Amino acid sequence: MPQNSVLKKTLTALSLTAFVSGLAACGGSNNTADGTSTVTVYTGRHYGIETVFEEFTAETGIEVRFTTGSDPELRERLAAEGANTPADLVMTADAANIALAAEAGLLSPVDSEILTGAIPEALRAADNTWFSLSRRLRVIMTSSERVTTPPTTYAEVGDPQWKGRLCLRPSTHPYTQSLVAGLINTVGADTTRTIVDSWVANDPLYINSDTDILKAIQAGDCDVALANHYYLGRLLGETPNFPVTITWPEQSGVGAHLNVSAAAVTANAPNRAAAVKLLEWLVSKGQKTFSDANNEYPADPTVEPGEIIAGFGTFKSDEASVRELGRRNAEAVTLLSEAKYE
Ligand code: FE2
Repeated sequence: MPQNSVLKKTLTALSLTAFVSGLAACGGSNNTADGTSTVTVYTGRHYGIETVFEEFTAETGIEVRFTTGSDPELRERLAAEGANTPADLVMTADAANIALAAEAGLLSPVDSEILTGAIPEALRAADNTWFSLSRRLRVIMTSSERVTTPPTTYAEVGDPQWKGRLCLRPSTHPYTQSLVAGLINTVGADTTRTIVDSWVANDPLYINSDTDILKAIQAGDCDVALANHYYLGRLLGETPNFPVTITWPEQSGVGAHLNVSAAAVTANAPNRAAAVKLLEWLVSKGQKTFSDANNEYPADPTVEPGEIIAGFGTFKSDEASVRELGRRNAEAVTLLSEAKYE
């Protein structure tokens, strides 16, 4: 069957509303007798998602409808819609946001040996309400042309030699919040505050896009930055000699800050069976397509990463903090605000 005809993308709140009321007007659900004809996904992870869903539909015949937004927006929408949500599955680009959705009662546990067999314990909720799909590392990026000795820890990014040479993502972004939540979890709030203060003292240029941060290094607007590894993977795919060097932080300590793309079946999923099927597919047959689509490391450690990021070498990462990022989020937000991190 032609895949494009079964893949419907709703981009805005307006079009989503139209879609939902359209269903209501028909007076019925989009379920077949076995409840597996359609699955509706809210996703905060955007890159390459069409390819992944098209492959799932081609293999299973289950239609995927999806809507995109930021993780917090989609979580708020899910909460507002309550029992009337059309969403069966929610996907996030950040561990804190999926954990906060679980805490708000918006998710439903799934008992599945496929899920628990594929995903390491540290990368899924203790109560099976959510599961990681892929791993993303927030790392140190430096100019290959102007920096000969990159920092090797998050604290060293605050060294005075980087004053006026540092680019960071603003405090409003989940990636920044989760990085700081991870630091609080590993070194405590006081030491984390000292680290964040040292970054702020370096008078960073705040840029709300990791791609733009890496391009700012290329352009000479900064020499050192923190960014997710896959943004460099993507740029290297387009420009193999892109002049930015990746350094895995904290390799003699707990390892690089690890965040995840994650997914969960919603508490009020109209098509629960199809949602479980999609979730199981994402951690098994679809695991490599999903991860490779965004240059991420598969959450299942037995699945090989793509060629470009395999070239980044092996690394140690802070798996132990992943489940704590949601619980530590509010503290991280407060700390960033008190440190006057913009
Ligand atoms: Fe991202």
